[in-house]
Amino acid sequence: MQSFNHFLREKGVSNEVRSLLYHIARSVKYINFSIRAGNTGKCESQNLFGENQLKLDVSADKTIADELEKSELVTVIASEEKDKPEKFKSSRGNFFVAYDPLDGSSLVDANLAIGSIFGIWENADNILGKKVGENLIASCYAVYGPRITLTIAIKDKGAHEFELNDVGEFILSREKVEIENQSKYFAPGNLRACLNNPNYKKWVDFAIENKKTLRYSGGMVPDLHHILSKGQGIFCYPRDKKHVEGKLRLLFECAPFTFIFQEANGIGLNQEGKNILDTVVEDFHQTTPIFIGSKEEIQTVVKFLRKH
Ligand code: AHG
Ligand code: MN
Ligand code: MN
Repeated sequence: MQSFNHFLREKGVSNEVRSLLYHIARSVKYINFSIRAGNTGKCESQNLFGENQLKLDVSADKTIADELEKSELVTVIASEEKDKPEKFKSSRGNFFVAYDPLDGSSLVDANLAIGSIFGIWENADNILGKKVGENLIASCYAVYGPRITLTIAIKDKGAHEFELNDVGEFILSREKVEIENQSKYFAPGNLRACLNNPNYKKWVDFAIENKKTLRYSGGMVPDLHHILSKGQGIFCYPRDKKHVEGKLRLLFECAPFTFIFQEANGIGLNQEGKNILDTVVEDFHQTTPIFIGSKEEIQTVVKFLRKH
């Protein structure tokens, strides 16, 4: 039984990054309490994307911001639920953290699994104008399901899964999460794109003809966690007429997950077949089409979309 902190120390993760991850893990525990407390109603407010916020979206956002401030290691934060980034003056470190406090909000009332996503950049001095992967040194996500897990990827040190035990500690549950190059599973998001992109439909038909198994919940966190847990799979969210630059957010969802997948032998590409981490950040709330998962399968999808 290896605790989260002990494991990361043995892996040679710096004191600062371990301390920052400790605060993130604490916020995950608090968010889990509020989910279990059943405070699942809607707010009057909307976020920058025009999506109605849940009380949980807002409270999870505040819980994370408070913990990151307490760490005294973070200079700037950006959140899916905040219009613009926030600065912490009292920080002694220089990390930038971008997060999606609650992913899968629309699944909360249905009592399906939801999650939180975090990206950690080591240099907070303006991320705009740079490739999103530059200075990205760690990412993690939590799954609030029947069990609570936290999967952490550190640059060149792999991706590892921890599970919350009944005394409130995250214990190593899976060391070195890895995915194969091929896959029998597929998670084709945004099927509406088939209406104006026959190539996407061709690929979906191809997957059906090849007897792939559908695994799709409608929440990016549980859908990608399924892939990492089974060691294979692909997830797509292409552009369509309504979402010309895709729906999923570069800083809060796509970059952290691409980082985690790369540490797990996977890949995350945009619709042009470029690595998501090479995308230049122009706006904190920028979105991108995404194709992520088992390497060879992802190359096939992107080829379908580009060639046929
Ligand atoms: P969020 O709850 O943070 O707004 O994210 C929802 C996202 C993601 O979790 C999921 O993959 C996608 O929206 C589903 O989009 P559709 O509603 O278009 O299927
Ligand atoms: Mn989300
Ligand atoms: Mn969200």
